[in-house]
Amino acid sequence: MKTFNVGIIGATGMVGQRFTLLLDKHPWFNVAAVAASPRSAGKKLKDAIGSRWAMTEPIPEKIGDMVVMDAAADVDKIASMVDFVFCAVDMKKDDIRALEERYAKAECPVVSNNSAHRSTPDVPMVVPEINPEHIEIIEAQKKRLGTKRGFIAVKSNCSLQSYVPALHPLRKYGIKNVLACTYQAISGAGKTFESWPEMVDNVIPFIGGEEEKSELEPLKIWGHIEGDKIVNAVTPNITTQCLRVAVSDGHTAAVFVSFDNKPSKEDILKAWKEFSGVPQELELPSAPKQFLNYFEEDDRPQARLDRMLENGMAVSIGRLREDSQYDYKFVCLSHNTLRGAAGGAVLMAELLAAKGYFDR
Ligand SMILES: NC(=O)c1ccc[n+]([C@@H]2O[C@H](COP(=O)([O-])OP(=O)(O)OC[C@H]3O[C@@H](n4cnc5c(N)ncnc54)[C@H](OP(=O)(O)O)[C@@H]3O)[C@@H](O)[C@H]2O)c1
Repeated sequence: MKTFNVGIIGATGMVGQRFTLLLDKHPWFNVAAVAASPRSAGKKLKDAIGSRWAMTEPIPEKIGDMVVMDAAADVDKIASMVDFVFCAVDMKKDDIRALEERYAKAECPVVSNNSAHRSTPDVPMVVPEINPEHIEIIEAQKKRLGTKRGFIAVKSNCSLQSYVPALHPLRKYGIKNVLACTYQAISGAGKTFESWPEMVDNVIPFIGGEEEKSELEPLKIWGHIEGDKIVNAVTPNITTQCLRVAVSDGHTAAVFVSFDNKPSKEDILKAWKEFSGVPQELELPSAPKQFLNYFEEDDRPQARLDRMLENGMAVSIGRLREDSQYDYKFVCLSHNTLRGAAGGAVLMAELLAAKGYFDR
């Protein structure tokens, strides 16, 4: 595989910091530009982050010494330095939508962690093991934008990153209704216990916009391409409650599910064990070998013990049992800033690179 120069837009943030670690020694991607708000522009990345550094490993030396550019003022300059950008910024939705389109129109593909373009019908929202074929919509998007190589591809919300993969291989049994309660880590809000002391010993029963995303986004992921857009799936019915809990990293979901054709417990365990997708087939560098992992122990998965499974790219599942109101219930976990954000975006970029979408 050839190598590509990449930019990190939002490099000072929680997801941006993860990108610096994941890309530091990446075999295909070389960080050539970092950018953030005007507050950080002009400073070395390590100084712009300062005490906000929230990772357990130190900031990579070479990337930490790079001078932060202005994400909005330097679009053309950044586009001339890189083959594509990762984007994870905390701005108003309309501003993010406009910023990402500016990069795409400057012929710089955007792999985004932001929600702004998730419902744009010709923007693919890809979990590489589940709907890799959705990247084919990019040709229609480029036509709309009037670009040769510029486009936007997005990652889904971190809340659904555990239960959608777990449900996906069970779709052959006709999934009817899903109820999911999520228990989400504070890093999902870009916070640590130092920056959010009110979260110590606490649960907050509201995360703005999260339940809507958790119910709607799976339907786009399970949708199909029709002409120049992705048409959402109409089933299953999904209802969610999303809670913020006192955990640093790792979103857990308690899931209830009913089927048209109820499978046996053995059928479900077999479907999880045998499931693998295009990233495993292509042996993409960030792909977990075993995506879905079932734990027999009653007290697993646990955020502290299991979130880093396969470098934080695998999904852990446990406690599968029959339910009195739905057919089954189970618990699942995924690392929200790795598989749920930066790691998932890097895997999507590897898929796009392998399929030639970053070629010039
Ligand atoms: N954390 C997660 O687990 C997670 C998961 C999935 C998706 N996401 C999404 O990823 C995005 C970033 O989240 P985060 O948790 O990393 O947020 P964060 O820690 O608050 O970081 C926000 C980043 O945005 C930059 N920024 C803010 N205003 C800007 C402006 N006007 N122009 C350019 N850059 C600006 C900040 O730069 P300065 O430092 O210069 O202010 C910083 O780099 C959000 O859209 C979020 O919804 C997060």
